[in-house]
Amino acid sequence: MARPFLLFVLLWTIALIFLGSYVHATDASLACPDWPTCFGTMMPEMTGGVFWEHLHRLWAGALVLLFAVSVALLRRSHPERIWLFRLGLAGIAILLVQSLLGGLTVLLRLPDAISAAHLAMALVFVALLAILLARTGRDPAAAVGGGSGERALALRMGVLASLLLYAQSMVGAWVRHRDAGMACPDSPLCLGRLVPPLEFGIVQLHYLHRVFGVLVALVVIACSWTLLRRCGSRSVRLAGAALGAAVAAQVLLGFLSVAARLDPVLVSLHTVLAATLLAVAVWVAASSWERGPA
Ligand code: HEM
Ligand code: HEM
Repeated sequence: MARPFLLFVLLWTIALIFLGSYVHATDASLACPDWPTCFGTMMPEMTGGVFWEHLHRLWAGALVLLFAVSVALLRRSHPERIWLFRLGLAGIAILLVQSLLGGLTVLLRLPDAISAAHLAMALVFVALLAILLARTGRDPAAAVGGGSGERALALRMGVLASLLLYAQSMVGAWVRHRDAGMACPDSPLCLGRLVPPLEFGIVQLHYLHRVFGVLVALVVIACSWTLLRRCGSRSVRLAGAALGAAVAAQVLLGFLSVAARLDPVLVSLHTVLAATLLAVAVWVAASSWERGPA
């Protein structure tokens, strides 16, 4: 029971990340000028930017409740694995801090560091959900199958891909919050050149995100290829194939976002795909961790 519910919570979180990213992309971040209420009420008129910003808050509130229920279910269905319950409690703490960060972005009028930290925490929560999902099977290592060597390899690939994707996402958050999204206004070249003049900070930042993004994608595709070629487990191979295809789509979405002048739907999908990629990579690592807690 806990597992299907956790999967639902993950999908709910991904939808919340879309909403949050869309709020920023449509300049609706301060549509509700106060917090925790919106214009002094919990039931403001849901029009314009208020619709998206307040919906994001309501969706986040529901997430805290839904996740609390899944932690209670975890406790009931896996009483012998107390560490799962503790990880769940850590997840609740993360959500509370995350809500506070969301409130602070509003009250302090969107400081870059807090807005970027809000994305950083959202991704940590997604990673935590992926670990819970990976370890709630009856015997995670057995479910993944294969010998010890195979699992150690999958663990290495999963950890490498997770770290790179997280780092690249943080650079992306900085690009977004420093308003460097259109510092290279053309695609795939930057200011008409393969290597643009790099005297301005925002061009350096944007260009770093592009170049690092392509390099990260190549490494993740190599990880995906290794998982497909060297692992017998069907679920790990499937996750490997998904990682490779999704990271290629992510690079394409990045360039398309620039070509479409940061179209809100495209950039929000770019954020959502970053979160989904991280979830899959962390899942691969966590479910292959043979010596992890039972
Ligand atoms: C009541 C609690 C929350 C409030 C008041 C809130 C508020 C906000 C605001 C104002 C923004 C736009 C920030 C900007 O333009 O820089 C935002 C973006 C976002 N929110 Fe929330 N939020 C809350 C909870 C959450 C939770 C629980 C999550 C996910 C677990 C989440 C995920 C996001 C994401 C991913 C973004 C986009 C960040 C980015 O573009 O870098 N939020 N939120
Ligand atoms: C593995 C590859 C990549 C990952 C994981 C990734 C991830 C991200 C993330 C998480 C953000 C921040 C979104 C937010 O704060 O809500 C972002 C922003 C951005 N990314 Fe990427 N990215 C990748 C590759 C690329 C590439 C190749 C481009 C090509 C131009 C690109 C273009 C952008 C742009 C323009 C933004 C800023 C969007 C805005 O200002 O609204 N990304 N990226």
